[in-house]
Amino acid sequence: MSSHMAIYPGFFDPITNGHLSIINRALTIFDKVVIAILNNPQKDPLFTVDDLIRMIESAVKNEANAEIDTFDGLLVDYVARRGANVILRGLRALSDFEYKFQMALMNRKMDRNIQSVFLMTDYKWFYTSSTIIKEAASFGGDISGLVPDEVNIKLKAKFSGAKKA
Ligand code: PNS
Repeated sequence: MSSHMAIYPGFFDPITNGHLSIINRALTIFDKVVIAILNNPQKDPLFTVDDLIRMIESAVKNEANAEIDTFDGLLVDYVARRGANVILRGLRALSDFEYKFQMALMNRKMDRNIQSVFLMTDYKWFYTSSTIIKEAASFGGDISGLVPDEVNIKLKAKFSGAKKA
């Protein structure tokens, strides 16, 4: 089992600069970071998994040690299948803490060989999330600087029919 590979799970619908900051910082600690997209059609995602993969590929194209993958079912099962033992999580404002702490404890209950490792987000991304960015974009709000340019273009295209706030 390699402790040098971290699995960074999420919906990434879409990837934000906050996610990218966590990935880039994790790459200074771990040999490899696997960005693992949960394939969960029940959540009514804005983008298809193929779109999400394309946007992440473009955002991490210069990072040879970043890999993109998808998974279904329990995260701990996926992590074990990958032969990894580290789940990487970004931690933002206080509201994130309780939910992510609860999830880390549940994951630990299910597999004690897997460690959840948290990186505190940079202050710049403390209050941003894919959800709030999508909401702003849906009303024509300016979200530049919060997501990679390509994601910004894709969001604008998705919401091009929406009215400006
Ligand atoms: O913090 P997020 O982005 O809402 O978490 C998303 C993700 C994908 C990490 C989480 O929903 C997940 O791991 N889902 C897979 C099912 C699972 O293992 N849940 C955790 C314990 S029941």
